[in-house]
Amino acid sequence: EKGGFDHFMLKEIFEQPRSIYDCMRGRIYPNEGKVQLGGVKEYVEKLKNVDRIIIVACGTSWHAGLVGEYLIEEYARIPVEVEYASEFRYRNPIISEKDIVIAISQSGETADTMAAIELAKEKGATIFGICNVVGSSIPRISHAGIYTHAGPEIGVASTKAFTAQVTALTLFAFYVAQQRGKITESQLITYLTELETIPSLVETALKSNELIKKIAEHFIDSRNCLFLGRGSGFPVALEGALKLKEISYIHAEGYPAAEMKHGPIALIDEEMPVIFIATKNSSYEKVISNIQEVKARKGVVIAIVTEGDITVKNMVDYSIEIPDTNEAFLPLIATIPLQLLSYHIAVMRGCNVDQPRNLAKSVTVE
Ligand code: F6R
Repeated sequence: EKGGFDHFMLKEIFEQPRSIYDCMRGRIYPNEGKVQLGGVKEYVEKLKNVDRIIIVACGTSWHAGLVGEYLIEEYARIPVEVEYASEFRYRNPIISEKDIVIAISQSGETADTMAAIELAKEKGATIFGICNVVGSSIPRISHAGIYTHAGPEIGVASTKAFTAQVTALTLFAFYVAQQRGKITESQLITYLTELETIPSLVETALKSNELIKKIAEHFIDSRNCLFLGRGSGFPVALEGALKLKEISYIHAEGYPAAEMKHGPIALIDEEMPVIFIATKNSSYEKVISNIQEVKARKGVVIAIVTEGDITVKNMVDYSIEIPDTNEAFLPLIATIPLQLLSYHIAVMRGCNVDQPRNLAKSVTVE
């Protein structure tokens, strides 16, 4: 049932071209410049007029929420707040019938996320669920929602569910942008035409698997690791760090690259691997200066770079290329090598990657 793969996690990483495609299927019409989301259609008037959106989630799903914040603010121009469900529910949040609250959850059963939306619902908010497990509790208590259609995820560490959540949030951002008149039909045609190519770009990114395995060998004895990115590369860095710590038990932290100088830079020495999301996008030049700061302190740098980029390649110790894409879709591609890196490091350390210690697939206790 692992389909020839050694672990469910690896199988699920390799399923991503398919799971991303399944999430988009029947929802995007690139030739017409149209996004259709049957699950939230009934609430289209609410979406046109809403003043803010609050996203609640835990763990990896919270990271997807941060990508969602970036996309919804950028394209639909609605202010978004992203909250840990466990914090939101216990701090008497200010919420009213004017708000839309989106719960993101692979399992649809996470206790804190459920309690957060129950609270928001009591206060009159409209609740949307972005969930993977059909018929689970969160979709049932939500008013509307979007299923991610990633298929069953067995590995405890979330991989394909994350990229499907990000895909669903991307569709949502463009759907709302379209409804609110924030994007033209011709712009949408351009974006959706590119979005449609993402599964094949993910396929290309997966081709670095052997290279990543070789790079991983150098890091099996690391004790700490830093993941840095800017813009939507920041949640990708957070997700990379979470994957590494949960399956390999190496301490890892994700940071916005510019925050490094406010503290974490003190950690850098020749023992410290630093992984940068250094693709060619709006923050490229800034990330390059952050890489120089790390190299000046003898940090070991692994960079995720855009195909063909030799500038960064020549500055760093190891580089992994990913295909170029519009910045809007970067998280979907840049996440792939980080999943593979964590996977190989964990396997070489002899860890049980599908069933990491102390973790459960669905956290139904608070
Ligand atoms: C990490 C991971 C967890 C979950 C979190 C929320 O790989 O799987 O951090 O993302 O427990 O779970 P769901 O999405 O089911 O609400």
